[in-house]
Amino acid sequence: MLVDFRPHTRLRGLREPVDFGATLGPVVSALTDECADLARVRVVADWVQYRANFRDPVSVRPVVADPGLDADPEDLELALDVRRCHGLGAEELRGLARTAIRGSDHVPLEGWGRTARSCIWDFNALYWQALDLWEQATGRTYEQALPGGESDARNRAGARELINELFAAWDRLAERNALPTELYVVELGVGNGSQARVFLDEFVAADAEHGREYYRRLHYLMCDYSGYVLELARKTVAEHDQHVSSFVLDATSPRTALGFLKYKVFLVYVSNVYDNLPTDEVAQLGGRTYGVQSRACLPRATVDELAAATATTPDRVPALVAKLLRLGPALLAEAAPDHFGGVDDVVAFWQRTWAALRLEERYVPLAGLDLHPVAPGISGESLRPLLEAGADVRMHVSNGAAASFVDTLTLLHPFGSLVCHDLFVTDVAAYRTRFAGPGKYDGSVVNWVNGTLLAHLGRRRGFDVHFAPFAHRDGTNIVTLTAHVRD
Ligand SMILES: C[S@@+](CC[C@H](N)C(=O)[O-])C[C@H]1O[C@@H](n2cnc3c(N)ncnc32)[C@H](O)[C@@H]1O
Repeated sequence: MLVDFRPHTRLRGLREPVDFGATLGPVVSALTDECADLARVRVVADWVQYRANFRDPVSVRPVVADPGLDADPEDLELALDVRRCHGLGAEELRGLARTAIRGSDHVPLEGWGRTARSCIWDFNALYWQALDLWEQATGRTYEQALPGGESDARNRAGARELINELFAAWDRLAERNALPTELYVVELGVGNGSQARVFLDEFVAADAEHGREYYRRLHYLMCDYSGYVLELARKTVAEHDQHVSSFVLDATSPRTALGFLKYKVFLVYVSNVYDNLPTDEVAQLGGRTYGVQSRACLPRATVDELAAATATTPDRVPALVAKLLRLGPALLAEAAPDHFGGVDDVVAFWQRTWAALRLEERYVPLAGLDLHPVAPGISGESLRPLLEAGADVRMHVSNGAAASFVDTLTLLHPFGSLVCHDLFVTDVAAYRTRFAGPGKYDGSVVNWVNGTLLAHLGRRRGFDVHFAPFAHRDGTNIVTLTAHVRD
């Protein structure tokens, strides 16, 4: 039996250190109770720092040789959330582990598939589309759910630093009479517009000091896939409306709408968006490469509760959830009056479903990395150097972030840069020691971004890619990625 205990720093140094034996002992007992072949078991222990997440304290991930056959799994991975197991008594933990080994009582909402295609991303999109309804029901804004209670993108010193760098580049171009008349800045994933507001206010102040009238030539393009969010952001930057336009677009393919700006953009500004884009996971275990497949599901008890609340039968609940994702709360309230008294009831149904939502996972061998594209035009082969860099590892593919990043680079002016504040894993080894998602922030999904992969993709395309801890707030996990054309 292999034991991969990732949060090893939790074993000492804390006020209440984790007891390794107390976490693993009951789980091993449960495995022997259930007559598992211990030679074919891997126990993986993570510290899942997100209070809201998609996991049970103990879950089982089968390793299936052929997903098409209904055969017994080859091997078994038993996954522990040490944070939650830590608070349980030995018998309770043993009981949970036995139940998980026998097969959890979950109701699937979809078939097995790549996680980037799971319906959790439809929930994520619904959250941003219907943010007003969600926030009304919870009484708090999405920013309050972020670590630190607000986005680092609001940081004035950070914005000022970016603006000074822009001005320096523009001054150099102006000296050579090579500065274009129109100065484009693009922001992807604008949220409530606070980031844009801080940037534009600081821009005006810096421009007044600098004296070159760059603000007059500035075009700030706010881009998001949520019409509601864009409307919110437009109101926030109303004072700058002569210099701002907004675009509904998918951040994973910005060129679709912004192709006319190829090589023209001086700054693409992205904050807390890459960690919100769809991602798969892959793993290298015992010399073999696996794709992690998942399926969203609900505990049976929650399904019964949801059925009772919506005057339907448990077997119809998955269809009702699918309808919610297709129509959204307002239309569903109109389309299903027999199940919901109004929009508030639908929102309550949505929030209860989301809170209980779990992801079951399994490992499926990959016939070849080239058959598992990271994103359109980016072969899975780009993952090989990361997967084969050492011991066993499981990592995010960050498909959405990789697609967005590579597509965005094509928009940059030769003096332009992409600046992105986000949660990045910048060293593959970190995947062996920390949990990198998925977690839930209110109604949205969060996964740390595979920064090593992005850097590799950028460098192959002729860009310098750097990571630095976010410089303007202590104790934050936010890292700033900067990419610009290699000199
Ligand atoms: C966590 S908020 C970040 C907002 C802001 N940048 C900040 O730092 O506060 C994520 C934003 O990304 C947007 N978003 C998420 N996925 C997107 C996608 N695929 N295409 C475009 N926008 C997306 C959401 O609508 C939301 O506005």
